Amino acid sequence: MPVPSISDFSLTNRRVFLRADFNVPMDEKGVVLDSSRVEASLPAIKYALEDGAALMVTSHLGRPKEGKWEAKFSLEGVRLELSKLLNRHIPLIKNWVDGVTVNRGEIVLLENCRFNQGEKSCDINLSKKMSGLCDIFVNDAFATAHRMEATTYGLAKYANIACAGPLMTSELRALSKALSSPARPLVAVVGGSKISTKLPVLSGLAEKVDHLIVGGGIANTFLLSQGYNIGGSLVEKDLQFEATRIIEKIKNKGGSCPLPDDIVSGPGIEAGGDCQIKSLKDLSSNEMILDVGPNTINKFCEIIGSAGTVVWNGPLGVFEIDDFSHGTKAMGKAIEKSNAFSIAGGGDTIAAINKFSIINIDYISTAGGAFLEFLEGKTLPAVAALERRL
Ligand code: 3PG
Repeated sequence: MPVPSISDFSLTNRRVFLRADFNVPMDEKGVVLDSSRVEASLPAIKYALEDGAALMVTSHLGRPKEGKWEAKFSLEGVRLELSKLLNRHIPLIKNWVDGVTVNRGEIVLLENCRFNQGEKSCDINLSKKMSGLCDIFVNDAFATAHRMEATTYGLAKYANIACAGPLMTSELRALSKALSSPARPLVAVVGGSKISTKLPVLSGLAEKVDHLIVGGGIANTFLLSQGYNIGGSLVEKDLQFEATRIIEKIKNKGGSCPLPDDIVSGPGIEAGGDCQIKSLKDLSSNEMILDVGPNTINKFCEIIGSAGTVVWNGPLGVFEIDDFSHGTKAMGKAIEKSNAFSIAGGGDTIAAINKFSIINIDYISTAGGAFLEFLEGKTLPAVAALERRL
């Protein structure tokens, strides 16, 4: 999926509109709690400023009601964070659609683009008006590439020049390397509590992978669908047919979908309960599966050890609680040790990577929903709009 790149154009003396994704967690005082996404946009910002652009940057934050400014959705906290990271004062401009004053070598932050009426629906008039603010539109917001909105899609369509920033380019390159032309075997690890939220991803991946490792509550539905005892574990019984279909699809291509055989059980999802390692068949109806057991960990790690590519989204157990964190930690460490090209994405996965200090993952995506839609094999509208500008 080739797209025009920021480096294809001179930005000198040009008005550049940069769409970033600063949708970051904030505390109740509006202080940024995790600045990874802000930091990830620094290469684009520095590049534009060093090249002599007059730079406007915007992002959405949360899902505000359009046409109404609300403090809790303001980018003021992001402005402070960005000013600190760039060591310069950055003004925050409200009501910017009708015109923005910014000089060469300067940067201004444009208030949450989702305050603008017509942003979500990708209104043509809003998109055209915003395109008049700039000479070049740069989309660096991969994490919002699955949204067809005025600043992600409309601007890419109507701006004089539209291209991808360095973060967008790296995300697309890493994800394409993993899924479009992967070194084989391609192994996907998909965990999480509910199969229903990951069904499209699992179905999409089933078309591509050699091995699919499922974990968490998702694995319970897979286990039940194959007739295994899951005691009183979290399960979505009505999705057993879908689980069987996915297993069969992979097996029919000569691949595998290995399931846990031993597990860590407990009476519930709380720390301090009576947890035990046991075989599935010994699980009683008042016990829940809360992590994978040591035999299963070995089996999964062996698969990771011989993988050419690993894609990881979601934990294998309730990793927030130490007693149930061993499977997820072992998976992370196995990926860290393997020679496979590895990518990871999603909030829980990144939290696990940080918790267990996992290193050596080749690419950690900044995206949540966009990462999953890419895994599904969906066309991301903002990327498609840039592709058309080549
Ligand atoms: C995200 O956090 O996944 C992106 O910023 C998209 O946010 P949205 O789901 O509010 O569009």
